[in-house]
Amino acid sequence: MSSISPTEDLGGAAAVVTGGTRGIGLGIAECLAGRGASLAVVWHRNEAAAGAAEKRLRSLLRPGRGLLLLQGDAGDPAVVRAHHARVREALGPVAVLVNNAGIMPPAAFEQVSDAAWEETLRTNLSSAFYWSREVIPGMKERGFGRIVNIASIAARGGGVIGPHYAASKAGMLGLTRYGARELGRFGITLNAIAPAFIEDAGIFVDYPSERKAEISARTATGSMGRVDDVVRAFAYLLDSPFVTGVCLDVNGGAFMI
Ligand SMILES: NC(=O)c1ccc[n+]([C@@H]2O[C@H](COP(=O)([O-])OP(=O)(O)OC[C@H]3O[C@@H](n4cnc5c(N)ncnc54)[C@H](OP(=O)(O)O)[C@@H]3O)[C@@H](O)[C@H]2O)c1
Repeated sequence: MSSISPTEDLGGAAAVVTGGTRGIGLGIAECLAGRGASLAVVWHRNEAAAGAAEKRLRSLLRPGRGLLLLQGDAGDPAVVRAHHARVREALGPVAVLVNNAGIMPPAAFEQVSDAAWEETLRTNLSSAFYWSREVIPGMKERGFGRIVNIASIAARGGGVIGPHYAASKAGMLGLTRYGARELGRFGITLNAIAPAFIEDAGIFVDYPSERKAEISARTATGSMGRVDDVVRAFAYLLDSPFVTGVCLDVNGGAFMI
């Protein structure tokens, strides 16, 4: 007989989603609110999106659960330390961490400046390390943790954004696998999701329909994905204590291995 997953009701345990005010991150934060978590979402520059996300998440939180909106650069270790201290104080030790904050500035190899390289690596990859390093001691204390890193199809097949983006996302897979190996025996799983072509998130939101049709033609399903497709992959990883160190592709078959 199957047992009910302890993650169906998170019972007010704290969850952190970096970049949780828009796109994929907001979809995952909504899922966590529905599962009874207390939430902290990190955002950087888009105040209007943060305000709208706060309203939406408040409407979904179960009674008595906390919500923190944390503004700052997740790629700055001092900011991450300060944010984590606020989360611990207000919501308790973190049980679920979703490293989702990311930027994707397109540039061909020779056009990537030093600044663009550093900013992309810091935002997309270092942020995941800084946040994981902060929350792991609390996860060890409670003997439970879920860390989900939002990578990209670019980590698997190179992608089309640029070398800085592909390297940052491929780095997330190494971080995931190493962490899975070291931390499994403490009840902590680390997994990645590699989405592609999510039409209601990030750069794709404003694409004209002709470009969306071109992209759809590159997938096996003949379609683009939706935030909900990524959220389903996240929920599976949340519920799966025996799945760790994997990368789930959510890409309509655009890249297969
Ligand atoms: N959309 C896709 O098809 C797709 C495909 C593959 C991978 N991904 C990955 O999925 C993740 C989410 O993508 P998305 O399309 O949902 O992005 P999005 O809609 O552009 O949202 C990005 C989120 O990250 C936050 N953020 C950006 N830089 C940050 C920083 N330095 N510190 C803290 N927060 C920061 C943003 O905050 P502000 O709003 O305040 O700037 C926003 O909440 C990214 O890692 C992306 O690489 C997306």
